[in-house]
Formats: sequence, structure tokens, C-alpha cells
Amino acid sequence: MLFRNCLKVVFPVMVLVALVFYVEKSPVSAVDVAQDAQGSLMQQKLTQAQLLLESLALEDYESMAEHAKAIHRISIEADWAGIPNKDYSRYGDKLREAAAKAEEAAMEENLDSVAWHYMQVVVTCVECHKAVRGQSPAEVAMLMP
Ligand code: HEC
Repeated sequence: MLFRNCLKVVFPVMVLVALVFYVEKSPVSAVDVAQDAQGSLMQQKLTQAQLLLESLALEDYESMAEHAKAIHRISIEADWAGIPNKDYSRYGDKLREAAAKAEEAAMEENLDSVAWHYMQVVVTCVECHKAVRGQSPAEVAMLMP
């Protein structure tokens, strides 16, 4: 009986401790959440583009530079190295260029310029999707002229 009563107390406490540990160990930033939940580079790109928009709205230059840089980095990771597809590499280059210019403009604290290059980033997302969406890497390679 005593044991059972003990359990009644100990068990909830253990659950609570476990929860606290879990919460503490779980990712805090939106990027980490996206990485863990989706494990997809494209989802990370989306998160970063959203965060870039948010930083633009907040006029937070440091954050703009950070997210533009992240888009650049993810785009390098997402590049299907060795796939000789003209569209894919062209839009990949275009995205990296736009992201690099957005980062540069953020460092110069030029809000209009960051906004402009952010728009170029978004347009490039859409252009590349229109060109290559729905194809596997192998299929994309076969589109090569
Ligand atoms: C160079 C081409 C290219 C560019 C640029 C590009 N994407 Fe993609 N994206 C793809 C391809 C190919 C797929 C489908 C395959 C995949 O999911 O990886 C895709 C899929 C996606 C998906 C769906 C992923 C899923 O989980 O199903 C999202 C979201 C996405 N892209 C967001 C973006 C955003 C946001 C940008 C711009 C910041 C962007 N993409 C730029 C090629 C591109």
C-alpha cells in the first residue's frame, strides 16, 4: 500500500522531470524545428525566407544578414552536385547571387536594397520550381538538352 502511494507521488514527479529535460533539450530556433521536423533542405529554405521577411519587417539588419546567409548556405547544400541540368544550376546560381546581395545590403543597412534582393530570392524560388518541380534528380538530369 505504502509502495503504491509512493508511486502515486514519484511517478508524476518523474514525468515532470522528464518533461523539463525534454523541453530543455528540444530545439529552440525555428530553423532547428524545421530541420528536425522536416529534415528537408527546401523546408529550411522556406523557413529562412520567412525569417528574412520577418527581419525586414522588423528592420533588424543583423537578422537579415543571418537569414540571407543561411539561404545561401542551404542553396549550396541543396545543389545537386554533378547534375548537369541547365535550369537547376541557373536558378541555383541566381538564388545564391540574390541571397549574397541581400546579405551585402543588410551589412550596409540598406533596407530598400535588402527588400529588393529578397524579392529576387522569392521570384527565383518560384522560377526554379516551375522549371524543375516534381522531377526526381535523375529525371531532372534527363531534361538536359
Ligand atoms: C535551383 C532550384 C530551386 C530553387 C532556387 C528553390 N527550390 Fe525549392 N524545390 C526545388 C525542387 C527540385 C523541389 C522538389 C524536390 C525537393 O523537395 O527537394 C523543391 C521543393 C521545395 C519545397 C517542398 C519541399 C517538401 O518538403 O516537399 C519547398 C517548401 C521549397 N522548395 C521551398 C523553396 C524556397 C522557399 C526557395 C527559395 C528561397 C526555393 N525552394 C528555391 C528546387 C528549387
